[in-house]
Amino acid sequence: MELRDVPEPAPSDGEMLIRIRAAGLNPVDCKIRDGKMRLLNRLDLPMVAGSELSGVVERIGAGVTRFAVGDRVFARVDKTKLGAYAPFVVVDQTLVTKMPKALDFADAAGLPLAGLTALQALRDELALTAGDRVFISGGAGGVGTLAIQLAVWMGAKVATTASPRGEELVRSLGAETVIDYESELQGPPRRL
Ligand SMILES: NC(=O)c1ccc[n+]([C@@H]2O[C@H](COP(=O)([O-])OP(=O)(O)OC[C@H]3O[C@@H](n4cnc5c(N)ncnc54)[C@H](OP(=O)(O)O)[C@@H]3O)[C@@H](O)[C@H]2O)c1
Repeated sequence: MELRDVPEPAPSDGEMLIRIRAAGLNPVDCKIRDGKMRLLNRLDLPMVAGSELSGVVERIGAGVTRFAVGDRVFARVDKTKLGAYAPFVVVDQTLVTKMPKALDFADAAGLPLAGLTALQALRDELALTAGDRVFISGGAGGVGTLAIQLAVWMGAKVATTASPRGEELVRSLGAETVIDYESELQGPPRRL
């Protein structure tokens, strides 16, 4: 990786130019830098790295209807284009959403990848509904902390794994059953 001056990108139809205020550093960004994702996603190098961001809409392309210049937004980028580690990025409007007022730019920039992973698993794959019981592994991690909160918000009861240092955190997020994976998973299975 190196610092370079690059031209400001221009939005095409359905895209928007975002002035970046913060960018997330997700584990996948390190894997991409190390070339470990190339079997899944072969990138056209050199390119600007960075997968998630928050910022302010600077310019909109034709056909962008849900956003206006000046909106505070956060987004993941197109996996084949990346581009969040720069002053400006162009993103398709379908990958962008407005930031809730209570969120600041730094917190918003770390949400898209881990948050979408949790949301897609619980809502799109599991179709979780109120009263369901769900097990979330690694509850104190990036995906786990968001998944617990989303599952509780959807009305589910949550069981999760956490080491003793993560127990208070996962309980504060709403997990009802906490399994200490360092000690409890060594023995025979127990009913949750
Ligand atoms: N982050 C993303 O955006 C993303 C997106 C797609 C997929 N994923 C995948 O989702 C998984 C979790 O990612 P993450 O970013 O949430 O990781 P993370 O922030 O590093 O969290 C992982 C959690 O796993 C727990 N853990 C460690 N060893 C364990 C064991 N032996 N048994 C049970 N739990 C254990 C740790 O719990 P304690 O803190 O309690 O020790 C830690 O909190 C990974 O497989 C990752 O590749 C992540």
